[in-house]
Amino acid sequence: MDHSDHPTAVLPGDVRIPLLGFGTWQATGEEGYKAVLAALDAGYRHIDTATMYGNEEEVGRAIRESGLRREDVFITTKLPPERVGRERETIEESLRALGVDYVDLWLVHWPPNDSGALIPVWREMLAARDANLARAVGVSNYSTAQIDALIQATEENPAVNQIKWGPRLYDRQRHAEHRDRGVVLEGYSPFKTTDLSDPVLTRIAGAHNVSPAQVVLRWHLDHEIVAIPKSVTPERIRANADIFGFSLNAEEMRDIDALGNS
Ligand SMILES: NC(=O)c1ccc[n+]([C@@H]2O[C@H](COP(=O)([O-])OP(=O)(O)OC[C@H]3O[C@@H](n4cnc5c(N)ncnc54)[C@H](OP(=O)(O)O)[C@@H]3O)[C@@H](O)[C@H]2O)c1
Repeated sequence: MDHSDHPTAVLPGDVRIPLLGFGTWQATGEEGYKAVLAALDAGYRHIDTATMYGNEEEVGRAIRESGLRREDVFITTKLPPERVGRERETIEESLRALGVDYVDLWLVHWPPNDSGALIPVWREMLAARDANLARAVGVSNYSTAQIDALIQATEENPAVNQIKWGPRLYDRQRHAEHRDRGVVLEGYSPFKTTDLSDPVLTRIAGAHNVSPAQVVLRWHLDHEIVAIPKSVTPERIRANADIFGFSLNAEEMRDIDALGNS
């Protein structure tokens, strides 16, 4: 099966990030390895990990053993804020654990506690990109003001801001603030932030003969927001990737948006 037709967003440097990714937080050890292998088999071509998740070795092994070419899988990992000052050493450890020469996206996992470190860390991220250790660099859990501080200091926007997102957290203005700055919004915890028995979601799911979980993921994609659902359950891994056979109309999108505060 060819998955090259999956929708992508374009990051600086003409790097394409698949809008559907696979989350791996709390997917560790053999379970994590099997989950990533199942995800690649189900068609995901984007895997989200982090130094903090303690599963980079398993993620790397699954990617290698999938038989896919390195360039056909988009890999994200993240710098824990307590590694501030040891950025280069940390990405080198990630690359060793993953068994790759570069990651596609490297994110600052959370803003550093010391706000004085905000810009120095960002400069280190950019340096790692310039050294070809990451094709693109970005942030996670940053406010718009923090993103503006990075842009002001370096004239380089983070490629991505990965933040908690879902219908109940929908915020039109926050989304627009990212778009206006050329920052791709990547949502995390799409299910943990959602009541999957919400009547709006079950009604729309029924109309398309899909599940509310699939509606939630499709809603992200139709907003051009990256979604990275996590599962270690083979049927859910497959179902969460089976979202390309339908799309939501404008009225359905508005009804789901209205679950948030827009
Ligand atoms: N940057 C950050 O600070 C940050 C923070 C949190 C998460 N993340 C990233 O985002 C990813 C996703 O977020 P998350 O793991 O917090 O939560 P999530 O993807 O919203 O939810 C995962 C939970 O939902 C269950 N689930 C999966 N598919 C389902 C379905 N179709 N129907 C019902 N339940 C389903 C999973 O169960 P099973 O696994 O048992 O199937 C698991 O308990 C993470 O794995 C991680 O990669 C990043």
